Amino acid sequence: SAQGAFQGPVNIAIIGGTGLESLPSFEPIAQLPLAHPSLQTPWGAPSSPITILSHTRPGSKPLNVAFLSRHGLNHEFAPHEVNSRANIAALRKIGVRSIIAFSAVGSLKEEVRPRDFVIPNQVIDRTKGIRPFTFFEQGVVCHVPFADPFDNDLREVIIKALEAVPVLEATPDPDKPATAEIPKLHTSGLVVCMEGPQFSTRAESHLYRSWGASVINMSALPEAKLAREAEISYAMICMSTDYDCWHEEDVSVAMVMANMKANAGNARKVAEVILDTLAKADDHDVDPLIRKAAHGEALKGST
Ligand code: ADE
Repeated sequence: SAQGAFQGPVNIAIIGGTGLESLPSFEPIAQLPLAHPSLQTPWGAPSSPITILSHTRPGSKPLNVAFLSRHGLNHEFAPHEVNSRANIAALRKIGVRSIIAFSAVGSLKEEVRPRDFVIPNQVIDRTKGIRPFTFFEQGVVCHVPFADPFDNDLREVIIKALEAVPVLEATPDPDKPATAEIPKLHTSGLVVCMEGPQFSTRAESHLYRSWGASVINMSALPEAKLAREAEISYAMICMSTDYDCWHEEDVSVAMVMANMKANAGNARKVAEVILDTLAKADDHDVDPLIRKAAHGEALKGST
C-alpha cells in the first residue's frame, strides 16, 4: 500500500463533516492509520485515519493535503463525542498550518436556502462546556485572542477561489434574497454552535434568529478554538441541509438527506477549486494571501 511512502510535509488539511467522509476525486498518496506514531497525541487518537491526498495543478508543484473525517469513517462519533483535541493535535503534528473545515448546518435565515454554502466570519458558542475545549490546563496558562474566530485571510482565499470558478453563485450581499435555483455562496455569516445531539427548540431557534444568526451547527466549536490555540489558520465552509425549526415547513429526514447528497457533490467541487488555487502557493507570482493560506504563515491572532 501507499503507507510509508509519504515524506511530508503537509501544510493544509480538510476536515470533512457529515456527508463528506472522503474526497474521492483526489489521489491518495498515503494513509496514516490510527495506530501510526504521528497520530498518537496526549489526548488520544483522532476521529479517523488521515489520508494524504495529492493535487497536481498543471505548471505547479503537487500540493499535499491531509484529509480527516470529523465523525469517523462511518459517522460513528456524534458531535459531542468528537475528540477535537486529538484531531487538531494530530494535524498539527504532521505539519498542518491551515484547516478548511466542512460542516452541515441548519439555516436560520430565509435567504440561506437548503444547499446554499456559507463562509462564516463569526460564531456564538452555545455548547455547554462539557466538551474539552482547550489544550491549556494543569499549569499551562495561556489566553489566545478569539475576536475573529475564523482566519480572515484564509476566508478571503476561499471566497476568491470560488468567485473565480463559480461552482456556486456568489452573493456578496448576505441579505439579497435568493431567486435562482442554483446554490448560493454567502460570503459571511454568523454561525451558532450548539451542543446537540438534539436539535434546538422552536424558542431557541427564534432566539438565535433575533441575534442575527445565519446558520446553526454542532461542530464549529471547540474545533476553531483549538485550531487557534495550536496556531493553525482555520476557516469553515458551511453547507445548508435544512431550515431549522423556526421555519413553517417542517423538516423531513428525506429533505435533509437529499440536500446532504447534493451538498456532498458540491462540496467536492468546492474543495477542488480551493485546492487548485492553493496549489499555486509556490509559484513565483502568486498572491501572498494564497501563499500564506497554503503555508499558514504569519497567522493573525497568534502570539
Ligand atoms: N446541522 C444540520 N442541520 C442542523 C440544525 N438544524 N441544527 C443544528 N445542527 C445542524
